[in-house]
Amino acid sequence: MKYVIGVDLGTSSVKVLLVDEHGHVCGEAAEQYQLIQERSGWSEQNPEDWFTSTKLALKKLVSQAGIPKDSVEGISFSGQMHGLVLLDAEHRVIRNAILWNDTRTTEQCRVIEQVLGDTLLEVARNKALEGFTLPKLLWVKDNEPRNYEQIATFLLPKDYLRFRLTNCLATEYSDAAGTIMMDVRKKQWSPEILQAFGIPQDICPPLMDSGAVAGTLLPEVADEVGLTDSVKVFAGGADNACGAIGAGILSPDATLCSIGTSGVVLNYEEDSEQDYHGQLHFFNHGKRDAYYSMGVTLAAGFSLSWFKDTFARASSFNQLLEQVGNVPIGAGGLVFTPYLVGERTPHSDSVIRSSFIGIDAGHTLHHFARAVVEGITMSLRESIQIMSDAGRRINTIVSIGGGSRSDTWLQIQADVFGAEVVRLESEQGPALGAAMLAAVGCGWFSNLDECAKVFISRAKTYSPIAKNTELYDQLYAIYREVYPTTRSLNQKLQQFRI
Ligand code: XUL
Repeated sequence: MKYVIGVDLGTSSVKVLLVDEHGHVCGEAAEQYQLIQERSGWSEQNPEDWFTSTKLALKKLVSQAGIPKDSVEGISFSGQMHGLVLLDAEHRVIRNAILWNDTRTTEQCRVIEQVLGDTLLEVARNKALEGFTLPKLLWVKDNEPRNYEQIATFLLPKDYLRFRLTNCLATEYSDAAGTIMMDVRKKQWSPEILQAFGIPQDICPPLMDSGAVAGTLLPEVADEVGLTDSVKVFAGGADNACGAIGAGILSPDATLCSIGTSGVVLNYEEDSEQDYHGQLHFFNHGKRDAYYSMGVTLAAGFSLSWFKDTFARASSFNQLLEQVGNVPIGAGGLVFTPYLVGERTPHSDSVIRSSFIGIDAGHTLHHFARAVVEGITMSLRESIQIMSDAGRRINTIVSIGGGSRSDTWLQIQADVFGAEVVRLESEQGPALGAAMLAAVGCGWFSNLDECAKVFISRAKTYSPIAKNTELYDQLYAIYREVYPTTRSLNQKLQQFRI
């Protein structure tokens, strides 16, 4: 039997997946690492932790599987997007990586808008948002000039990991699009954008296709983790692109809802000219010459894990979600907005914070948990609405991530979205997408679509219940009022934040 490994470098942990030629998941391992949050709105990680944890996870995976080491033919990656990793001329990491959910760069975003005007949306196909990579690079230039001077190259998180495993410095289109320094249509670093900010072209890594071979495992790494140094290492993709591949979002009108730390609604796009006027992100897919549009809720799963850690430590997620099912729609008149770390879609506001509106003496922990789940889901509906308003047909949505592990939440998604929601047979998220890139790269299939036929199957469809959808339509209208009503309050509160 032949195998590939998908590595998903997430925000809280790295997950590695061993998959055979039939698409069976034959092993899985994960290792956690630390998030460094020195100030409100800051979010960093030490890239060395990614490398150490990935090696540990791979070692565990290979030893537990008990397979001959030369039966693993390929490895590929999925990675948390946008994070800025800076290397000096000796390829040493200059400072901690600044992550996608770090919102310190509002000032730099305003400068980017002023300097580039319409060119940004025209070339990079996206607005300047705090999470993207260019504002982070400019923040380092403005605030840490000594670090900036040392930069010989920048990388995205999974590219750094690949570099440490192979010694190959490169990135690929799906992640490079999230830097807003790439011309999304031409698939090359944009000279206009780089020149506008005096960024030397040579600090940008070479660009590849997600399915391209970047190299082979370094002998010392192969030795340490129990593999051979002939394993082919493929470029891989951004986690949302890989999540889409692993859920079979590979043709027009296919839509994904993924609830991890962040939550996204993602639509496959064939036409690079499809225009959402910057209301949605628009990036290159991991499938060659395809694209996807996407709305992002910054704190989706994170809102629920924050709630559990802060107020319900003793409960497991399953217990919490079971109880959510016993609370009626609307959580007894309680509404939550998931703005714990600011918001991206549709508000792109780094200052806004969450609210519980309508707290009543009769509410219990379970009402609050239901309000959190409903609030996250209604935030994702706002992205679906932008897609529908632009004429996309959103009838069926494949759901992956934490939100797809509970029947209750899947039904809430169907009712809130007013669409069929599909759960997959063996949902492995972006790690499976990464494994599929490796499987196609190794020549097991002629393309991702052929691979998806073997690797992905649908388990169950949740249909919207008309009377629930009606109630949610009313709740959603109230939910949408919370943002404009609490906006200026949050601006005033900002001075008290730690
Ligand atoms: C997408 C985004 C997040 C991260 C999470 O733009 O910032 O979904 O990719 O890893």
